[in-house]
This record gives sequence, C-alpha cells and structure tokens, in this order.
Amino acid sequence: MSPARTVVVSGAGSGIGRAVARRLARDGFLVTAVGRRLEPLERLASEEAQRIEVVSADVATEVGAERVASQVAAAGLACAGVVSAAGGLSPGAPGADGLSAVRQDWQASFESNVLTAVLLTEALRAAVERDGGRVVLISSVAALRGSGGGPYGAMKAALHGWVYDLAAELGPHGGTANVVAPGFVPETEFWAGRLTTESRQRRASQTLTGRAGTPDEVASLIAWLLGPDGGWVTGQILSPNGGVVLGR
Ligand SMILES: NC(=O)c1ccc[n+]([C@@H]2O[C@H](COP(=O)([O-])OP(=O)(O)OC[C@H]3O[C@@H](n4cnc5c(N)ncnc54)[C@H](OP(=O)(O)O)[C@@H]3O)[C@@H](O)[C@H]2O)c1
Repeated sequence: MSPARTVVVSGAGSGIGRAVARRLARDGFLVTAVGRRLEPLERLASEEAQRIEVVSADVATEVGAERVASQVAAAGLACAGVVSAAGGLSPGAPGADGLSAVRQDWQASFESNVLTAVLLTEALRAAVERDGGRVVLISSVAALRGSGGGPYGAMKAALHGWVYDLAAELGPHGGTANVVAPGFVPETEFWAGRLTTESRQRRASQTLTGRAGTPDEVASLIAWLLGPDGGWVTGQILSPNGGVVLGR
C-alpha cells in the first residue's frame, strides 16, 4: 500500500495558511499544519477530524524546520507538497535607532519572510524530491510594487528569485515550485488592528474588482497548484490580487 500523502503548511494557525490547510484537508490530503502557537493549530485540527497533524515549530530556525521534517518522516508520510505561508510584517526594532534599528528591522523581516520559506523547504527537500512534491511560497503584491517603506516587499521579492531555481531543481524529480503573491486579504492576523473603515475601503477600491480578497480565494488557487491539474505550472508568480497590479 502506498503511504499517505501529506502537504506541510506553515502559518496554518490563522489567515491564509489556515484556509489552505482546511481546503487541502477537504481535498483529501493529510495536512501537516505548522505554526509557533499550538492552540490555534489544535483548534484547526479538531475541526477537520483525522485530516490534520499539527507541529508547533518556529520555522525561521533550523531546529524548528528539522522538527517538522522529522515528524513527517517518523509518520512514514509521502510529501506531496509544502506551502509556506508563515511570514508577515516584523515589529520593527523597539529601543534601537539609526543604522542599528535598520539592521534589526531587515534581519527580522528576512527571518520571518525568507528563512521561514527556505529552511522549511530545505528540511523537506529530500522528501519533496523523492515524492515529486509541489512547493508554493506565499509572497505578496508588495514584492511587485513596494510596501510603502521598510524591508517587507524586498524580502518577499527574494522568494521570487529563489523560486526560479527551485522550479528548475524540482522539475527533473516531477515536482513544481511557484510563488503565490496575494493582494489585500483583510480577514487575517496580518491586518489585525491595522485597518480603519476608511483604509479598508480605500484598499478595496484600488482593485479592479472593487473588493478585498478572502483567505479561501487564495487557498483555492493554491489547492489547484497542488491538485491533479496543476502539474505543468512551475516557476511562476501567480497573483490573486483583484487586479490591483496587472499582468505579473
Ligand atoms: N493578508 C494579506 O493581505 C496578505 C497579502 C499578501 C501576502 N500576505 C502573506 O500571506 C502569508 C500569510 O499571512 P496572513 O495574511 O494569513 O497573516 P497571519 O494570519 O498573520 O498568518 C501568518 C501565520 O504565520 C505564522 N508564523 C509566523 N512566523 C512563523 C514562524 N517563524 N514559524 C512558524 N509559523 C510562523 C503565524 O502563527 P504563529 O504566530 O503562531 O507562528 C501566523 O499563523 C504571510 O506570508 C503574509 O506576508 C498576506
């Protein structure tokens, strides 16, 4: 009997990652849901009985990424994919100033948005290659148009450069690698406490659709990339963004 197939989803405790984990579980994958806080992961698992394994890990660290890979290996699971949704805005550098503040801010954003994707994928690379797995890295529209200052857009853009190489490396093993770069998705912790009615409306009105996106809409695109029809799309930047940035 062939082993059960898991997709490892980081950032699965909230927002887009949570919607991805739920959608993939309903599509028949056994999902390995990863985040630093255990409680939201366990709540998710309790809602999707039998289809979600949880791992509490900080995947910006080698130890955390290795813990995830060890759990997948110990369970004897085939690795059908990795979805890296962990990331977000870093808190800046409270107490620091000048270049020290700049360095701390960029370092924190690098760890949160680049290392989380790279370390998790590299920890699972042998399994992904063995099983022809598919990798999806969540970037942002900020990588395409800037983020209004700070490191966030630049750090997300680093994933774009990396995914081209990753796609070339996984292709001969039957795998794929893509970036999904969402636009404005307010029902997430990313935006918690940062929106007013006015700013929410302004952001929505900048799209061609006149509305924000939902975590489920982003999840359905990712589910397609991991599903039976997604095997010939690789090395791409896919932008569910309501048309706020065109053609990229
Ligand atoms: N919402 C938007 O409008 C939007 C737009 C474009 C791109 N994005 C990107 O989409 C991704 C998902 O974000 P979201 O919007 O769904 O926000 P979110 O609700 O804040 O989700 C981010 C998740 O990542 C987890 N996480 C953060 N650092 C981690 C680490 N080092 N190790 C493990 N897990 C970690 C967090 O859980 P713990 O704190 O428990 O670890 C959290 O559940 C992010 O990469 C974000 O930059 C969001």
